Amino acid sequence: MIQTGPRKPLLRALAGETLPLPPWWLMRQAGRYLPEYRQIRAKAHDFIELCLTPALAAELTLQPIRRYGMDGAILFSDILMLPHALGQKLAFHEREGPVLERIEDTAGIARLAPDRIASSLEPVFETVRQVRDALDSRTTLIGFAGAPWTVATYMVEGRGSKDQAETRLFAYRERHDFQRLIDLLVETSADYLLNQVNAGATALQIFDSWSGSLPEDEFARWCIEPTRRIVERVNGSAPDVPIIGFPRGSGPLALRYARETGIDAIGCDTSLPLGWIGSELQPLLPVQGNLDPLLLVAGGAGLDARVKSTLAALGDGPFIFNLGHGIQPDTPIAHVERLIRLVKTPSD
Ligand code: CP3
Repeated sequence: MIQTGPRKPLLRALAGETLPLPPWWLMRQAGRYLPEYRQIRAKAHDFIELCLTPALAAELTLQPIRRYGMDGAILFSDILMLPHALGQKLAFHEREGPVLERIEDTAGIARLAPDRIASSLEPVFETVRQVRDALDSRTTLIGFAGAPWTVATYMVEGRGSKDQAETRLFAYRERHDFQRLIDLLVETSADYLLNQVNAGATALQIFDSWSGSLPEDEFARWCIEPTRRIVERVNGSAPDVPIIGFPRGSGPLALRYARETGIDAIGCDTSLPLGWIGSELQPLLPVQGNLDPLLLVAGGAGLDARVKSTLAALGDGPFIFNLGHGIQPDTPIAHVERLIRLVKTPSD
């Protein structure tokens, strides 16, 4: 029989197919819960250097695939490599997370240099090429960027924050300036994603990790509209590459996001009820998610029960099994192994 359309399980699910067993991958799957990651991390003195050294970044992308055979390999990099490439000072401190030079006004925005990004990020595209060449034929290479809102919160506040209050205030008080920052991020993120596609990424994810802090009008302006523009630009040049949107914490606004951004699939965070995902989102587009990363740390009967109920609720439609947020560094390897068995051999 002649097979048409994509054959890789993840691409089939993203195209709207219901598979007998859902494809799976884990957000932040390349990282500190893996001993082989920690070994390489201990030798490289700097996380940014790791992201900009193609041979190492490619190796880190492939590590979880070798160990577990996920259906998706997500590029090893970081959403903050874009502000870094724009010329904003960035450092990752142990236990403190990222620290950036803050953008406080128009002058700060004017100092950003969008014309540098293609060359500064060339090592990231080289990583994508190396992974593409090394990857087996059934695994999908996922490129990514942060959504403009989420990236802007780090650029304005200089670090991760609990409720993004300073960025929300900036956006209320200096609407015009904030819009300029967002516009710049829309343009550069679309270019960044398209360059990843040109290097070999065949699916993309847009991480809007902090979209949950905005009321509806602001969510429409700073999350939906910028994402819609990125999707439009990427689709214009790469119509066959599916885009997963991940509007974390957006609650019922996820529905507007799904309808209005033009994304191909939606990543569901842990707080969204399975019944609601199944009745409201899945009829519109493929869904991905949403196991609590802490339940994967805890393991045991609770993990088994939740994976089973997730498969029962969402497995009869287009579905990609994933966590509802990134995997925790203290996740036991044995629990990830248990998870694979539950997803891949559910009758056991
Ligand atoms: O495994 C993968 O998913 C691939 C690479 C990846 C990283 N970060 C590597 C990383 C991806 C897709 C990201 C996304 C990212 N980065 C997001 C969006 C997703 C989310 O978790 O909400 C955000 C908000 C960031 C910003 C960021 N980078 C923070 C807040 C931190 C520190 C805290 C943490 O989670 O580790 C990072 C550092 C980071 N990014 C590490 C890794 C492997 C740890 C660096 C180290 O080893 O010291």
